[in-house]
Amino acid sequence: MSRQHSRKLPPSSRERPDMVAARKVLAEMWPGPARESSVTLLKALHVLTRDGGLNLDTRRKLKQVLHLVQLLRPSLDALLAEGNDPVIADLGTGKSYLGFILYDLIVGPAGRGSIVGVDVRAELVERSQQLAKECGFDRMSFVAGGIADTVLPGGRADMVTALHACDTATDDAIRFALRHEAKVIALIPCCQAEVASLLEHAKPAPIDQLWRHPLHRREFGAHATNVLRGLVLEARGYKVRVTEFTGLEHTLKNELILATRHQQGNPLARRKLDQFVEQLGVRPGLLDVMDAAA
Ligand SMILES: C[S@@+](CC[C@H](N)C(=O)[O-])C[C@H]1O[C@@H](n2cnc3c(N)ncnc32)[C@H](O)[C@@H]1O
Repeated sequence: MSRQHSRKLPPSSRERPDMVAARKVLAEMWPGPARESSVTLLKALHVLTRDGGLNLDTRRKLKQVLHLVQLLRPSLDALLAEGNDPVIADLGTGKSYLGFILYDLIVGPAGRGSIVGVDVRAELVERSQQLAKECGFDRMSFVAGGIADTVLPGGRADMVTALHACDTATDDAIRFALRHEAKVIALIPCCQAEVASLLEHAKPAPIDQLWRHPLHRREFGAHATNVLRGLVLEARGYKVRVTEFTGLEHTLKNELILATRHQQGNPLARRKLDQFVEQLGVRPGLLDVMDAAA
C-alpha cells in the first residue's frame, strides 16, 4: 500500500486489531469511547483478553464495577469540586477493579484526589502496587493490612468504599469510615453470618418465627444486619440511601448502602436503633461504634 493511500484511511482502520475488538466489546458498557490506556489497564486486570475480547469470568465484575462507578460519580464529583484532594479508601480491595476503574475514569482525568486500596492479602496488594506503577497512576497506593487496624497516613479518608468485603469486614469498613470521619461511605455488603448465628441462640421474641428455620435465619440475619448498618450510620449523622446497585443477573449481593455525612449525630435514629436491637434480642458487634459515640 502506498504512503499516500495509507494517509487517506480513517484512523480506526489503522488501529491494532485488539484495540478494534476491545472498543467493540466495551461500546455498550464503557462510558464513552475507551482510551488505549484503559484497554491496556483492562488487559492487565484480565478483564480483557490479549486480543481485546471480554473475558467471560470477569464480564460480570466489569458490569458491576461500571454501575457502581456511575452511582458514585456524583458524590465523587462533589468531593473533587470542594477543591481539596479527596482521599478515597477502597477497603477489601482484592484485585482492585473498582479502584483502578475509578482512577482511570474519574480521579486520573480530574488531576487530583487519590485512591488507597486496603487488603489483608499482601500478594494482591503487591501486584496492584506494581500495576498502578505500570499505568502511571501515581496517586494510587495500597496498604497491606486488616481494615480494623488500618489508619491512613494523615488519618484522612473522605470517601470509603467496600465492595463485597466479606462478612464482618463490612462492619470494619464502617468503623474505619467513622474513625477517618469519611464524608461519603458506599457499602455493598457480602455474605453475613454474625447476626444469624446470634439469632440461633436468642431469647424468644414476638417475631422469632422470622428466623426459626436455618434458611430463613440466614436470609433474615443478612437483611437485619444491613438494616442495622443503615441505622448505625444514621445515628452517627449520615443520610442513608439503600438501593440495588446492579441487576440481580450480575450478582446476588446487590445492595448498595450509600451514606453521606450531614450532621454530628441523630438522636431519633439512635432511639430507632435501640428499639430495633431490643426487638431482635441480640447485640451484634457493630454496636460498639455507638458505645464509643455515647
Ligand atoms: C470478595 S473479595 C472482594 C474484592 C473486591 N472488593 C472486589 O469486589 O472485587 C473480598 C476481599 O476483602 C479482603 N478482606 C476480607 N476481610 C478483610 C479485612 N478484615 N481486612 C482487609 N481485607 C479484607 C479479602 O482479602 C478479599 O480480597
